[in-house]
Amino acid sequence: MLFKQQAWLRQKLLVLGSLAVGSLLYLVARVGSLDRLQPICPIESRLGARNQADFPLRALQFKRGLLHEFRKGNVSKEQVRLHDLVQQLPKAIIIGVRKGGTRALLEMLNLHPAVVKASQEIHFFDNDENYAKGIEWYRKKMPFSYPQQITIEKSPAYFITEEVPERIYKMNSSIKLLIIVREPTTRAISDYTQVLEGKERKNKTYYKFEKLAIDPNTCEVNTKYKAVRTSIYTKHLERWLKYFPIEQFHIVDGDRLITEPLPELQLVEKFLNLPPRISQYNLYFNATRGFYCLRFNIIFNKCLAGSKGRIHPEVDPSVITKLRKFFHPFNQKFYQITGRTLNWP
Ligand code: A3P
Repeated sequence: MLFKQQAWLRQKLLVLGSLAVGSLLYLVARVGSLDRLQPICPIESRLGARNQADFPLRALQFKRGLLHEFRKGNVSKEQVRLHDLVQQLPKAIIIGVRKGGTRALLEMLNLHPAVVKASQEIHFFDNDENYAKGIEWYRKKMPFSYPQQITIEKSPAYFITEEVPERIYKMNSSIKLLIIVREPTTRAISDYTQVLEGKERKNKTYYKFEKLAIDPNTCEVNTKYKAVRTSIYTKHLERWLKYFPIEQFHIVDGDRLITEPLPELQLVEKFLNLPPRISQYNLYFNATRGFYCLRFNIIFNKCLAGSKGRIHPEVDPSVITKLRKFFHPFNQKFYQITGRTLNWP
């Protein structure tokens, strides 16, 4: 009998212990990490008091909690009103370049407590049908955030679409613009790889990269091929410079974001006038993926989807040399205009 009672007591203690540990882990998850442990909902926030100094901490709590819940449709209108949540137009946009690492940049910036990302590519400024729906339609596509936070969206098609600079200028002439670039030939091959995968998924055949990138009649680089044209960064940038001064752009080195993300992110934090909050703790190298992944706290971490970081097909080295020679003068001009030298071959 006594033995039975002892076993029952031990079992009870075990359950209670597990519950306590579980609750502790949940608390830690909600607030980011142990050193950021704060009450989940500080009373003054409910009263609407705003202390700028501790804002990032508070924002972090809700970014991982309330904002996430809202996206899932679990937060009431009352809570939105109580916490002053709003849908804000972006203060910064990642305008391109396609395959430069735009998704990685957006997700990594979203680690910052003062940043809220628009998860989907909205394609407001490059798609006439969407643009015709008006700016309120665009704002309603934005995630909920605190007024002190900044919303960032990314639509890489903006960089190469003729009408976009003027349209963005009309919305906000002082907006901050982020451009993430990779070595132009690598980017073109990455672009090709994405299209190739799409064709293969539909059981369609596709040309080899060499055939598309080189004009068979002249044996010169085929500038009609979109993947090549997109990599002539300076041509596109010049169109943007008719509307925005160069100070409103920040160039992110997409090749370095792959191998050394933190210093690149710190430069972006500076450009956006954000206090430095993204740390090495938030980024860890995942050997299986071969890329850095994101750590929000001791429980939540994630890597980018498998569609990011594809294996590129092998390309004839003579074609690579030809392309690199072709891009070289455009790259020099790009460095000169932007003031950022990237040492591409
Ligand atoms: P590849 O698939 O050619 O390797 P985008 O998001 O603009 O489409 O860019 C995709 C590229 O982001 C990928 O190109 C990949 O190299 C790069 N990238 C940068 N950081 C990454 C990360 N942490 N995880 C996965 N891909 C990353």
